[in-house]
Amino acid sequence: MTLPIGFLVSGRGSNLQAVIDAIARGEVDADILLVISNHPGIPALDRASRHGIRAATVTGEGSPSRREHQIEMARLLEQHGVELVVLAGFDRIVVPEMIERFPHRMINVHPSLLPAFANTLHAQREALNYGVKLAGCTVHIVTADVDAGPILVQACVPVLEDDTEESLTARILEQEHRILPQAIQLFAEKRVRIEGRRAVIGPARETAER
Ligand code: GRF
Repeated sequence: MTLPIGFLVSGRGSNLQAVIDAIARGEVDADILLVISNHPGIPALDRASRHGIRAATVTGEGSPSRREHQIEMARLLEQHGVELVVLAGFDRIVVPEMIERFPHRMINVHPSLLPAFANTLHAQREALNYGVKLAGCTVHIVTADVDAGPILVQACVPVLEDDTEESLTARILEQEHRILPQAIQLFAEKRVRIEGRRAVIGPARETAER
């Protein structure tokens, strides 16, 4: 069955685009039912409307708290029948009340090899400054501990001697665009099982039937 998914975004939306494209190519069996932005007028919203995907802006203005703001978003996602929530460049820490509504059904893409360079908006810069030889990205399940939920997929990129923050960021982003659709497809194929802090990935159906 096609997996009904929703996105929370705050900016450019290139990861959203990567998923839209992967669905169009038939690589991901999911349907994007709703894209929610917490900022008005961002490129991610244009991408959604260009592809006929329902988009909503929920700025939280008038919400008494971050908690109320996010509960409003969660309600919208529930009303649309979203089963997996994808955080793709969402610039807020998600409150527990939101996570509880989608237990183990909310994922995030982070531009580092977690647990390195967690909980920062400058993971690529920090990796470069630290002098690591391998950088990368992670798709993980969102839990109340920021950037510390079970890891679903990771990809490495080498750090080159002449890398700048921009060049490293671009190389990591290419991999984000590859592993985020992959992670969603794992859910679509019902292959994700959580054991403690590990996400155990079951065999692909073809393999299982053999
Ligand atoms: C990505 O690098 C993602 O890892 C981070 O924010 C960025 C969002 O990019 N959380 P985009 O909006 O998907 O283009």
